[in-house]
Amino acid sequence: MSSTFTVAAAPAATGSATAGKALYTGNACFACHGTPPSQKKILNGANLTTLTNSFKNVGEMTGYSFTSQQLLDMNAYLKTPNI
Ligand code: HEC
Repeated sequence: MSSTFTVAAAPAATGSATAGKALYTGNACFACHGTPPSQKKILNGANLTTLTNSFKNVGEMTGYSFTSQQLLDMNAYLKTPNI
């Protein structure tokens, strides 16, 4: 079988910054965290554990429910917030 590796065929366990940006916009994170993301410690979300825990620990954010892939995508975006 072909084993040619391309960026488009990246494994699902990798976050997509572009998809993360869409999630950030679509879920109104910008209402509290700004555009591009800069406010209320948002860039700490470049750390996946901090991002994941923020939805459990920050009272304003406990209403969200994201899959692990969505968390990976937002994590990738917060590592490169100026895309
Ligand atoms: C209603 C306002 C609000 C919205 C909407 C919101 N947040 Fe937050 N967020 C906060 C507050 C308040 C904090 C805590 C800031 C502090 O501790 O100074 C925070 C903190 C964070 C942190 C840092 C946690 C830490 O421990 O350093 C991350 C990452 C984060 N938010 C991500 C997001 C993402 C991603 C979204 C959208 C899915 C989002 N937030 C939507 C209010 C919000």
